[in-house]
Amino acid sequence: MSGPPTPAGLDAALEGALTIAAEAGRILLEGFGASAAAPLLGRRQAFAEKGTDIDLVTEFDRRAEAHIIARLGALFPGDTVLAEEGGGSAAPGGAGGRWLIDPIDGTTNFSHGLPLFCVSMGRERGGRIELGVVHAPALGLTFAARRGGGARCNGAPISVSTTATLGRALCATGFPYDRHTTYENNFEQFVAFQRRAQGVRRLGSAALDLCFVAAGTYDAYWEMKLKPWDMAAGTLLVEEAGGRVSGWRGEPLSPDGSAAVASNGVLHAAMLEVLALLPLPAAAR
Ligand code: IPD
Ligand code: CA
Ligand code: CA
Repeated sequence: MSGPPTPAGLDAALEGALTIAAEAGRILLEGFGASAAAPLLGRRQAFAEKGTDIDLVTEFDRRAEAHIIARLGALFPGDTVLAEEGGGSAAPGGAGGRWLIDPIDGTTNFSHGLPLFCVSMGRERGGRIELGVVHAPALGLTFAARRGGGARCNGAPISVSTTATLGRALCATGFPYDRHTTYENNFEQFVAFQRRAQGVRRLGSAALDLCFVAAGTYDAYWEMKLKPWDMAAGTLLVEEAGGRVSGWRGEPLSPDGSAAVASNGVLHAAMLEVLALLPLPAAAR
């Protein structure tokens, strides 16, 4: 009878996920098409619009996702997959794990030739993320973690910052795709943090935002209306790097939650205090 995976089993699974993420990254780099003269800038991509006219998908989202799902199916036949572009089987994973896959987190950046995009792969079991890989091929950055095993970037251990006050903190956030048509759009929270923090960035990739908190580059991050595939891997990276992750009122964040706060831990109470200045959006309850 097979029980829960051992640390060695999880390390082997993480190696498998790293290989698959690297393969998907090569598909994305082919599309990105940077030149030797300007290696950080790609070409603009044709895109289609999804639910709203600012939520985009390119052929490379679909190609990378199909590749990841085929490879996961072969390597982890007992697992299920929930992937952004609709591939995979969404049913709960039973005894196996559930992979939460974003083939390109940062599609708007990718489609404009900006290098701030990544492949995000997290594996959840029993309501906990146990493995996470975030691979940003155009930046040459690969973040990886397994629960209990620490967080790494390009193989080297990483840890969160020690910044203790919001006034010294560089924060990050993002805005939902329905922001043109609803007031639940994170704009008021953005203003509240801009008034208090050293700076607030909006790079356009939630998974990378979380990894930059894990690496101590950012001090904290918050966002609403996220999907499981945006945050699965990144939230584990933050926790394994010594940080804290929660919902907007400090409650534990489920892998299927949608409003997240991530910080170096020291700043968490200050982040929650700013969010508590405003009514809790329905989408964050
Ligand atoms: C989006 C990015 C963005 C965040 C959005 C996400 P996508 O994912 O992570 O930073 O603000 O909420 O949906 O559409 O590029 O995969
Ligand atoms: Ca995403
Ligand atoms: Ca995506």
